[in-house]
Amino acid sequence: MGTLVKPALLLLLWQSVGALNVPLEGEPIQPPTIIKQSLKEHIVDPKGTMVIECEAKGNPHPIFSWRRNGKYFNVARDSQVSMRRRSGTLDIYARNNPEKYEAEYQCIASNEYGSAYSHKIILQLYSKFGTPVWPREIVEPVVVSAGLPLVLSCDPPPGPPKPETYWMSSSFPTMQPVRQDRRVSMGVNGDLYFSNVLFNDSAADYCCNARFPFKNVIQQKMPVVVKLHPFNPKSLSLPSSPFGAAPTWLSPTGSSSSMLVLQGEELLLECIAAGMPTPHISWTKDGEDLQVTSRMKVKNFNKMIQIPKASFEDAGDYTCTATNKIGYTEHTITVRVKAAPFWLEKPTNLILAPEENGRLVCRADGAPRPTISWFINGEPIETATAQPNRQVSGETLIFRGVTTENTAVYQCNASNQYGYLLANAFINVLHATPRILGPRNEFFKVTEGSRTFFDCQYFGSPVPELRW
Ligand SMILES: *[C@@H]1O[C@H](CO)[C@@H](O)[C@H](O)[C@H]1NC(C)=O
Ligand SMILES: *[C@@H]1O[C@H](CO)[C@@H](O)[C@H](O)[C@H]1NC(C)=O
Repeated sequence: MGTLVKPALLLLLWQSVGALNVPLEGEPIQPPTIIKQSLKEHIVDPKGTMVIECEAKGNPHPIFSWRRNGKYFNVARDSQVSMRRRSGTLDIYARNNPEKYEAEYQCIASNEYGSAYSHKIILQLYSKFGTPVWPREIVEPVVVSAGLPLVLSCDPPPGPPKPETYWMSSSFPTMQPVRQDRRVSMGVNGDLYFSNVLFNDSAADYCCNARFPFKNVIQQKMPVVVKLHPFNPKSLSLPSSPFGAAPTWLSPTGSSSSMLVLQGEELLLECIAAGMPTPHISWTKDGEDLQVTSRMKVKNFNKMIQIPKASFEDAGDYTCTATNKIGYTEHTITVRVKAAPFWLEKPTNLILAPEENGRLVCRADGAPRPTISWFINGEPIETATAQPNRQVSGETLIFRGVTTENTAVYQCNASNQYGYLLANAFINVLHATPRILGPRNEFFKVTEGSRTFFDCQYFGSPVPELRW
C-alpha cells in the first residue's frame, strides 16, 4: 500500500516513531476511534436542548449514524433532532413530547476502514418539576397514644435524580427541622420513625421535603398533624410508669432480610426499632462485634451503617439487636456483594506492517466472571467473514501474518448480569516505506564546547532501523 503524506502531517507522524501503536491524528489511514460519548445513563433536562454526545476521529473523517432501541434511527427525517457537523452529537429539541426520546441510543462512527461503536446511552428525563410531586390532598391527623411507635411516610418521588429528603415541623413558633435523636429519626426511605411517641411530639405539623440536586428545587408534602390521645394515667411514657414495651422492628421487619450490593457502590444497613424506653441498637457481623473500619460510618444514632464503597469483604451476616430494659429483638441482614465488569486490560489500537503478528487483549473481571464477546466493525465475529489468520482465544484476538484485509475496528464486550464494558480497538495494517521527515540539508551553527542535538525524524511501518 502506498501512502502519500502531506507535509502538514509530517510533524504528527513523526511523533509515532518508535511507538507505532499510538494512534495519531493525521495518520494517512486511520479507522475510527470514539473520543467522546455521553454516559451510559444519561439524564437530561427536557425543558432545554437535550444533547447526546458522540465524537470520533479517523482518516478519512468518520461519518456518523445512530441506533435507537436497536434499530436504525433516521436522524435526517426527524425535524426535532439535528446532528452537529463533523460529529455525531445529537441536539434534540422537543418542547411538547420529550418523553418520546427516552430510549437507548448507540452511535456508530464509520469510514472505509471500519466502524467504531459507542456504548449504549440510555436517555432519561429529569422528573418534571412543573407539577406537584405529591398530591394536594387533605391529610387526616394521626392520632396516637403516648408510648406507642409511629411512622410518618414520606414517599418521595423516585426521580431521577433521587431527591434528598428531610422533615420539618411546626411545633415551634416557626417551621424547624425535626430534631433527630435515638428516639426519632428519618430512615433511608425518607420515612420519619418514632420509637415511641411523647406528649411533646403532638400538635405539630410534620412535613416531608424533597430537594432535587438538579436546579435545587424543593417540593413539600402536605403536612400531617400528630395528635395524642388525651392524658391516660397508665400511659407508657410516664417516667413513673411500671409499663414499657419490648423492642420490635419498624424497619426492616421480621427477623431476617437480604441485600445485594455491587462492588464500589454504597451499602446502607439500617435497623430502626420501636420500644419503650427507646431501644439501643448494636451490631455484629458474622457473630462478632462489628469492626468499624475507616471505610464505614456509623450514623443515625447507631441505627445505620454506611459503607460508601462496598467491597467483597463486606459480604456477610450483619445482625442488629435492639435492647431496652423490657427485652430485646434481633434482625439479620445477609449481604451479598457482586461486581459489574471492570477492566484488567483494555485492548489498544495497533498499527502493524503486512506480515507482522498482533493481538488484541480484552481482560475484565467481575462477579460473576464476565463473558467476552468479539465484534468486527460491530458485527459478531462468529458471523463475520472468516479470516484464517485471525483466531479468538477467549480474552485474546490473535492475528498472524496480517494483511490489509485485517484493517478494521474490533469491539469486545465484557458482560455479566450487572453490566458491561465495551471497548473498541483498531488494527491498522500499513505499509509505509521508511522515510526521513523534517527538513533536508539542514545547516547547524554550533558553539564550540556546548552540547548539540541532531534530531532525526523518521517514519515507517514496520518501524525502521535507524543508523547514522
Ligand atoms: C454487551 O453485552 C450485553 C450482554 O449481552 C448486552 O446487554 C449489552 O447491550 C452489550 N453492549 C453493547 C454496547 O452492545
Ligand atoms: C420532649 O420531651 C423529651 C423528654 O422529656 C425531651 O427529651 C425532648 O427534648 C422534648 N422534645 C421537644 C421537641 O421539646
